[in-house]
Amino acid sequence: MDKLLIRGGKPLNGTVTISGAKNAALPELCAALLTAEPVVLDNVPRLQDVQTMIKLLRNMGAGVEWQAEGSHRLVLNAGTVTSPEAPYELVKTMRASILALGPLLARFGEATVSLPGGCAIGSRPVDQHIKGLQAMGAEIRVEHGYILAKVNGRLKGARITTDMITVTGTENFLMAAALAEGETVLENAAQEPEVTDLAELLIKMGAKISGHGTSRIVIQGVDRLHAPVQPHPIVPDRIEAGTFLCAVAAAGGDVALVGSRADHLDAVIDKLREAGASINAINNQLRITMSTRPVAVGFRTSEYPAFPTDMQAQLMAVNCVAQGAAKISETIFENRFMHVNELVRLGAHIEVDGHTAVVTGVERLSGATVMATDLRASASLVIAGLCADGETVVDRIYHLDRGYEQMEAKLRGLGADIERIK
Ligand code: EPU
Repeated sequence: MDKLLIRGGKPLNGTVTISGAKNAALPELCAALLTAEPVVLDNVPRLQDVQTMIKLLRNMGAGVEWQAEGSHRLVLNAGTVTSPEAPYELVKTMRASILALGPLLARFGEATVSLPGGCAIGSRPVDQHIKGLQAMGAEIRVEHGYILAKVNGRLKGARITTDMITVTGTENFLMAAALAEGETVLENAAQEPEVTDLAELLIKMGAKISGHGTSRIVIQGVDRLHAPVQPHPIVPDRIEAGTFLCAVAAAGGDVALVGSRADHLDAVIDKLREAGASINAINNQLRITMSTRPVAVGFRTSEYPAFPTDMQAQLMAVNCVAQGAAKISETIFENRFMHVNELVRLGAHIEVDGHTAVVTGVERLSGATVMATDLRASASLVIAGLCADGETVVDRIYHLDRGYEQMEAKLRGLGADIERIK
């Protein structure tokens, strides 16, 4: 199993290119299921979850090919889909497989998708996805661990108000409603930039959508969708950009992030400025300079545009080496402090009480072997390793590979002493 070996203590300097967003790529690959025409996506990140989604789509009979080796352009052809199914073997490795449910049901009138089950960061049910699609006329049974969904004729437009804001739920409804009969109104919709990017792709495919980027999205269903005329470029990954910003805030240095959207990172940038970083945005570049030890910053995760849960672990790592103490509240997932015990192994002072963690910064972390437990937890351990004394080994980095493209190569390009070992 691959590990990362980090020799900490070096500041980060130089330029790094930010990839396309994983959490936009995953629904947008599924959106290709909505048409028989070949859909071309650009800026697709080459990471493990995208490979899993490609496997899932090919397993249904879709043609999915990278334009060339190493290219970030993906050509998807769902004209050849024969089996609208997402089997347990693939879904268990990636919860986002649930994103196939809405488009399959809308285009083929049936879908069989395995229930994702629990995961490291919480129980994460999909009850809202099911409830919303039922409101659109789908008959859904859950049997033998599978969601069996079908609809007589087309899905019908409906008003859907979810109990909580759900990102992939909103995405499933958007895709289903695009091909439904009549009007769908999504109240309490997710406003994440990845949801907006999906809506923009669907509009390019002929969907009639308004209000995306707000909590109320209105979709007028159409009979059929087509391929976008031009390849659709996937929005930059704000979480990858935020992770690099945190790495610089913790380890010090001067880094330009190319291909990033500052307007998608307001809450993260505010917190890092509070921690002492100087951050400037020019066009599609973000530049961060950090020349002092960070100051501890408290924060609370919440839905976009507030501070993202996907950045909680990384900003916690910054707090681990900061001056002072800070309180962190996690409000989205019930069990997203799995990285705490591993950060403590590196010498961090953290106390957890329910959904709150109090971090008291230490001057120096000390390298050790630690274990990644989920994607963003892995990123926090890498950041901690970059500013720890001596050697840190991060084990189980398959978690990191699920959601970051070439993270260690990108960090090495900034001067970090980091290598992949077996
Ligand atoms: N929830 C339910 N029932 C549902 C749906 C959600 O109870 O039917 C609960 C969840 O358990 C959670 C909350 O609602 O407590 C919000 O979950 P949401 O549905 O928004 O999460 P998600 O769509 O499964 C996406 C991202 C996650 C990110 C969350 C929150 C993708 C593929 N995944 O998950 O990304 O943390 O939104 O922003 O878009 C990651 O990239 O590391 C990651 C975990």
